[in-house]
Amino acid sequence: MEVCLKLTGLLLGMLLSDWLTAVLSRDFTLADIIQLHLSATPHPGGFKCFTCEDAEDNYSCNRWAPDKYCPEDSRFCYTRHWMNADGESVSVTKRCVSLDECVSTGCVQHEVHMVCTSCCEGNICNLPVPWNKTAAIFSTNSPLNRVIRASPGKITSLSIILFFMLNYFN
Ligand SMILES: *[C@@H]1O[C@H](CO)[C@@H](O)[C@H](O)[C@H]1NC(C)=O
Ligand SMILES: *[C@@H]1O[C@H](CO)[C@@H](O)[C@H](O)[C@H]1NC(C)=O
Repeated sequence: MEVCLKLTGLLLGMLLSDWLTAVLSRDFTLADIIQLHLSATPHPGGFKCFTCEDAEDNYSCNRWAPDKYCPEDSRFCYTRHWMNADGESVSVTKRCVSLDECVSTGCVQHEVHMVCTSCCEGNICNLPVPWNKTAAIFSTNSPLNRVIRASPGKITSLSIILFFMLNYFN
């Protein structure tokens, strides 16, 4: 057990120094760190989604939707968009979801209707609605992803550090 703890400590130390190098090499800004901690939210990793059930279209959904904090067991923002045969909006539903509701994004034909669903990761990321399969995807734009784009070499260490941090906080 103790050996295990020491090894974990050593690993963390190595990863942290790696991470500090990443910070010093500029891709990590103070803003990123604040976003990663999200300490002002009701629970760690708290975020909001546009939320509406069967709204007439994108505009009325976003207009009336309270962008409230998502429950703790959700990770993504979900959008489902029904269109009629003329390609006009019939129904828009947006809500907070967990991963299992995001595995089948895309567009399917339901009789005369086309139904496109999309998922995204990040605070209030479900602003638009998907009109075709180009947009009906599962996308992430979280701070973690920005880090990944900025610094490919640090992906693994950062994910592991985040994993540790999340475990500590939970
Ligand atoms: C949905 O509505 C928002 C404004 O509430 C707008 O910014 C966005 O472009 C719209 N997207 C689509 C695909 O209609
Ligand atoms: C999908 O819709 C977007 C606008 O909502 C449009 O720019 C794009 O060309 C469309 N793609 C296809 C394959 O129809």
